[in-house]
This record gives sequence, C-alpha cells and structure tokens, in this order.
Amino acid sequence: MPTTKRSEADACTLLDSDHRKVKKLFNQYAELAGSRSTQDRRELAMEICMELTVHAQLEEEIFYPALRAAFKESDLLDEAEVEHATAKDLIAQIQEAGEVDEKFDALVTVLGEYIDHHVKEERGEIFPKARASKVDLMEMREQLLTRKEELMAEHSGAMAG
Ligand SMILES: [Fe+2]
Ligand SMILES: [Fe+2]
Repeated sequence: MPTTKRSEADACTLLDSDHRKVKKLFNQYAELAGSRSTQDRRELAMEICMELTVHAQLEEEIFYPALRAAFKESDLLDEAEVEHATAKDLIAQIQEAGEVDEKFDALVTVLGEYIDHHVKEERGEIFPKARASKVDLMEMREQLLTRKEELMAEHSGAMAG
C-alpha cells in the first residue's frame, strides 16, 4: 500500500497544528512589540499564554505519559517536562505583569524563542519516536480533541470572569 499511517491525521498532527497556530500569534506579537497598542499587545500575549497552557496540559495529561510507558528511555520526555516548567514560569510572569512595556515585550519574545526550541525537539525527535512506537496515535487524537474542548472552555471562562 502506498499510503502510510504517517500521512493521516494523528495525535502528533493535532499537536503540531497547535504549534503552528501559536507561532503565528508570536509573529503577530513581534509586529506589535514596542508599539503604542498596549491593549492589543496584552490581549495577544494573554491569548498566547492560554493556548500554550492548554497545549502543555494536553501533552502532560495524555501524550507524554503514553510515550513514557512506550519508550525505552525517558530522557527526551524528562527534558520536555523541564522545558514545560520553564515555559510556565515565563507564562506566569507575563500573566502577572503590571505594565505592558519593553520588559513585557522581552518576556513574550523570550517565551517565543523558548517555544521554538521546544517545538523543534518535539517535531524532530519526539514525534518520530512516537510514530515508530506501539502507541495508538489515531485513538489518542480523539482523546486529545475531547480534552482540548473541555480545557479551552475552562480557560476562556476563567479569563472572561
Ligand atoms: Fe511540549
Ligand atoms: Fe507541543
């Protein structure tokens, strides 16, 4: 058969579409950085933080544990979890920031660079290993979709309130 499982939408494809979405938001932010639109900058930064928080939670609850059970070595996942913790620290600093100033822009920029690095490792190392493993990534895709809906509702509710 010429088609492989790899060309179909699986859990990794879904997670990678989050990566691409958030990359677009970071690019939009880069255009606004330093401008007078402090309201737009804050809103965009908060959207980035919410997207990343939901994405990280999905990976930590569903994706990483399944891989941990399937991979022989855990180093890639240990590193990924440490990177999540560091990203969350930056996210908290952005969410708690009082002023939308140069320091605020710097936090968003550094978070963007940090996420670029993390995504590169997921795309380049973790996703290929996941696809080569016995984990059912098609079934996991459904699981991720359901959980994502719940989390998005929770987080957008929390932000509006
Ligand atoms: Fe991740
Ligand atoms: Fe990710």
